[in-house]
Amino acid sequence: MSLPPDDVTPHIARRARLLDTMRAAGGGIAILAAAPIAARGRNGEYPYRQDSDFLYLTGFPEPDAWLVLIAGERDRTVLFCREKNEERELWEGLTIGPEAAVADFGFDEAYPADRLDELLPGMLLDQPTLYAPLLRDDRAGTRICQAMEKAQRLSRTGQRPPARHHDILPLIAEMRLIKDAAEIAAMRRAARISAGAHARAMRLARPGMREYEIEAELLYEFRRHGAQSVAYSSIVAAGPNACILHYPAGEAVLEDGQLVLVDAGCEVDGYAADITRTFPANGRYSGPQRLLYELTVEAQKAAAAATRPGMTWNDGHEAAVRVLAQGMIDAGLLKGSLDGVLESKAYTRFYMHRTGHWLGLDVHDVGDYRDPAAPAGPERPWRTLQKGMILTIEPGIYVRAADDVPQAFWNIGIRTEDDALVTDEGCELITRGVPVDPREIEALMRE
Ligand code: GLY
Ligand code: MN
Ligand code: MN
Repeated sequence: MSLPPDDVTPHIARRARLLDTMRAAGGGIAILAAAPIAARGRNGEYPYRQDSDFLYLTGFPEPDAWLVLIAGERDRTVLFCREKNEERELWEGLTIGPEAAVADFGFDEAYPADRLDELLPGMLLDQPTLYAPLLRDDRAGTRICQAMEKAQRLSRTGQRPPARHHDILPLIAEMRLIKDAAEIAAMRRAARISAGAHARAMRLARPGMREYEIEAELLYEFRRHGAQSVAYSSIVAAGPNACILHYPAGEAVLEDGQLVLVDAGCEVDGYAADITRTFPANGRYSGPQRLLYELTVEAQKAAAAATRPGMTWNDGHEAAVRVLAQGMIDAGLLKGSLDGVLESKAYTRFYMHRTGHWLGLDVHDVGDYRDPAAPAGPERPWRTLQKGMILTIEPGIYVRAADDVPQAFWNIGIRTEDDALVTDEGCELITRGVPVDPREIEALMRE
C-alpha cells in the first residue's frame, strides 16, 4: 500500500493544470478511477498499487475511489472514496474517508464511493465534453457508461450528457513526461536506494552463491531504506542467463569466471528507479568480458552526451548503436564496414533492444516518443528532449554461443543502465551511487 503523501500541493497543482487544459478546450468533466484490487489465489490479494494516473493527480492511496474534475465557470474537484467504517478498520487499518479527503488532500468535495452511481449522472448533465479513459474495457469503464446512460434518460428534462468524448490518458501522459520538483525528489530517492542495493550486491557476490541470494540482498536493501516495493521483478542472471533479456532471478549458481547481470530498481512513493550493472562473480573481469563491458560503458557515454535539450529521444540510441556496432566489428563479432553494419542492422544480432525509455511512476513510463504535434504517420519525427524529462540509458551486448562467433565471447551478456534527468544543458545520471567503471567495480568487490 502506498502511503498518503506528506505534501499534496503538487497534486493540487497538477489537477489545476489539467483543469486549465480542459477549460481551454471548452470545459467539461473528467473521470478517473482508482486501481482495482487484484485477487491472489483464493484467499488473498496482491499488495495494493494505486493506478499511476490516479496517484499522479490525487496522491490518494486507497482502492474504491474516483476522481471527478469539472472545468467550467467554477472548477470543482471531487473525490468519491470509502467511508470510514470501524468494523472494517479493525481488520484492515484506518480508512481516510470523505471528510479527511477534503481536509487533507485538497478536494473541494468528497462523497462516499457507494454514492457514485447516484451522483455521477447529474454531474454529467450539461457538460460539453467527457474526459475519461475511453479505450479501457474494464469495470470502471462500465460504471462510466452506465452513468452516461442514466444521464441520457434524465435528458428528457432538457439537460444532456456530454456529446464529445475525449481520451484523458494522453493529456495526463503529456503532463507526466515532464517531472515536477516533487517527482524529481522521489525519483532521486528511488535512484539512491537502488544504487546502494546494487553496490551491496557487488560487495557480497562470490562464486557459489545462487541468483536468488543476490535478489534477497537487493530486496533487503530496498526495504530497509523505506522503498515500498520493487519497481519491477529483479533480474539476476548468471553467465549465459544474461542473454535472456527478461530472465528473472532464478536458482543458478554464480560460477567462477562468469559475469552476473543485475537489473533491479525499487519504487519510492510510486516512482521507479531502473538500474543494470554487470559484474564478475569472482571480482575480476576477464579480458574478453572487460572488452565488451567497456564497450557498453563507451556506448552509454555517447548516448548520455546526446541526451540534452534540443536533441531527440532517438539521438542517444543512434549514438550508442554507432559505438556498439564499431566495437562489434573490432572484436570480430561482425564483418564489414560501420556504415554497412548500420545499414543492414547486423548489430541487432547482439543488441536487439532500444537504448532507453521514459521513466517515472511506471518503469516504461507514459509519453509519446514521437512529436505529438506532428501529423500522424510512420514518419512522425522523434520527440525533442526537454528539461525535466527522465529516461533510462541502457546499452547492452548479448553474445550467445554460435559457430560463427569467436568462442572467447560466448555466453557473455552485459547491460549498463542508468537513469538520466534532462537538465538545462545536458543530463544528470541520478543512479551513479553505484560505479560503472570496471576498476571501481573491482575495487568495491574487494572490500
Ligand atoms: N528493467 C526493465 C528495463 O530495463 O527496461
Ligand atoms: Mn530500463
Ligand atoms: Mn532495467
